Amino acid sequence: MVVNRRHSMVLHASREGESPEKSGTPPVPSFAHRDPSRAEFWDERFASAFMPWDAAGVPQALREFVAGEGAARATLIPGCGAAYEAAWLDAQDWPVRAIDFSPGAVDAAKAQLGARASLVEQADFFAYTPPFTLDVIYERAFLCALPRDLWADYARRMAQLLPSGARLAGFFFLKETPKGPPFGIAPEALDALLSQDFVCEADRLVDDSVPVFAGAEHWMVWRRR
Ligand SMILES: C[S@@+](CC[C@H](N)C(=O)[O-])C[C@H]1O[C@@H](n2cnc3c(N)ncnc32)[C@H](O)[C@@H]1O
Repeated sequence: MVVNRRHSMVLHASREGESPEKSGTPPVPSFAHRDPSRAEFWDERFASAFMPWDAAGVPQALREFVAGEGAARATLIPGCGAAYEAAWLDAQDWPVRAIDFSPGAVDAAKAQLGARASLVEQADFFAYTPPFTLDVIYERAFLCALPRDLWADYARRMAQLLPSGARLAGFFFLKETPKGPPFGIAPEALDALLSQDFVCEADRLVDDSVPVFAGAEHWMVWRRR
């Protein structure tokens, strides 16, 4: 799949039809679906290979986290997209499942995973039960893909899925954005969202972000109380 990562910003297509000269960015394709809470929204973007969030590989902070663990951790990747991390975690002998509710995303993941295609399932995060007890849920570009009215449900479901002591670890887009996706979140708002059930154990800005997240993407680890 050809990944269009030259688009520096926005999936919400607010500048559709505007010329590159006027907006300063390449034009966003014209999309029929505008509701990111629906799989069709994401299907259409995968079908157009319009995926400015796609890192095309395994981010460095995840590699460092895994290297520091010393033991395998059963991991769920919700909203996995192309699921590069699933193949890599499986290669490290970590039990892993990746889910996405978009058939187009699942097709992209299966193509990318090849012989490991069974690691990915088409499923809605809010209704999914993993096949094993989780140690880690890996977050990347999932919270910021959800409309803000789903954020409380996200926090609640994360807390339901992770037993006490398990961790929500990954990348958070800590920037207030007027529109989305990506729906960025202010640090205080993320704290308010998660701190009832989680304690933040790590927070650092990363330097290998794709342009859409650059300067505001933090590696964070939240431990379930
Ligand atoms: C911005 S993409 C990020 C994909 C991937 N995590 C990555 O880093 O490349 C967000 C993904 O979340 C998926 N998604 C959104 N809501 C979902 C839900 N309720 N359940 C499962 N997947 C969902 C979308 O289909 C899309 O593939």
